[in-house]
Amino acid sequence: MSFRDEFDRICGVVERQLGQYFREKVPQSRLLDAMSYSLMAGGKRIRPVLLLKFCEEAGGDAEKALPLACAVEMLHTYSLIHDDLPVMDNDDLRRGKPTCHKVYGECTATLAGDALQTAAFEVLLSADLAPESVIAAGRYFAKAAGAAGMCGGQELDTSEYLTRDAAGLTLINDLKTGALIRAACVIGVIAAGKNAGDGQLQAAENYGIHLARAFQIRDDVLDVVSNADTLGKPAGSDAANNKATYASVYGLDRCRDLIAEETKLAISAVTGKFEDWSFFAGLAESLEERKS
Ligand code: IPE
Ligand code: IPE
Ligand code: MG
Ligand code: MG
Ligand code: MG
Repeated sequence: MSFRDEFDRICGVVERQLGQYFREKVPQSRLLDAMSYSLMAGGKRIRPVLLLKFCEEAGGDAEKALPLACAVEMLHTYSLIHDDLPVMDNDDLRRGKPTCHKVYGECTATLAGDALQTAAFEVLLSADLAPESVIAAGRYFAKAAGAAGMCGGQELDTSEYLTRDAAGLTLINDLKTGALIRAACVIGVIAAGKNAGDGQLQAAENYGIHLARAFQIRDDVLDVVSNADTLGKPAGSDAANNKATYASVYGLDRCRDLIAEETKLAISAVTGKFEDWSFFAGLAESLEERKS
């Protein structure tokens, strides 16, 4: 099966399961509607697919890891809803649709993000896996989402107190974007019953770190060179927010080289570490020149 067919197959599984959440009819249904509006708006689903594939390649049962994959996508969607709010990036378009706060208002959008985050942990904790795997996955996930991970990165990204040199930009990207992508890879291996210190877990972590660096640099480039129709989110948002990014600090040519370097590092992190690592190589290569 080609990398693309395999990606689409796993994506279909994730999409079907995500569609099962937040359908209850309760007095606060508008909040659930806002959550599923953003969740089901058609993201690329890279994080849940990575999680399931790492689980499978580490010898686990991907079906049992599906709640973990959905949890990661819920938490990622919450991060996007909050990222788009007027107090953060102030963007009106996401996944090809008006942002959550444009449709439901800032109050409900804030709560939809909050509730997607807690739903992520509820769903993760419901996984029918060995309790020690669920605990290890939950701990890794919580750290990746919080002040030491995604939230910490968003704080650095939306403030001025860190110098935007190579080290500063790398730290911001490693936290705001890297933490969750890395967590998806690692949690997949944890779901297969592997512990910290396991070679496959470390390989997944290193792959996630480098893939995410390439991914965020490409995101910064697309913000400069693409358009809203192709991206499904506004182009020029970083410039409008006066944000120093890899693209504005280093220029597009240097970004292309950096993306190629990080992609190579990602692929070499998994090479020989799994019986079949071709999917991970194919995904990294396909993201190098991604258009959205
Ligand atoms: C967007 O992530 C936020 C970044 C970390 C750059 P994605 O590009 O994965 O967004 P979706 O999930 O496909 O919408
Ligand atoms: C956001 O980075 C990363 C998140 C944690 C959501 P960006 O602000 O560059 O993401 P986009 O471009 O809005 O998707
Ligand atoms: Mg942002
Ligand atoms: Mg943004
Ligand atoms: Mg961006």
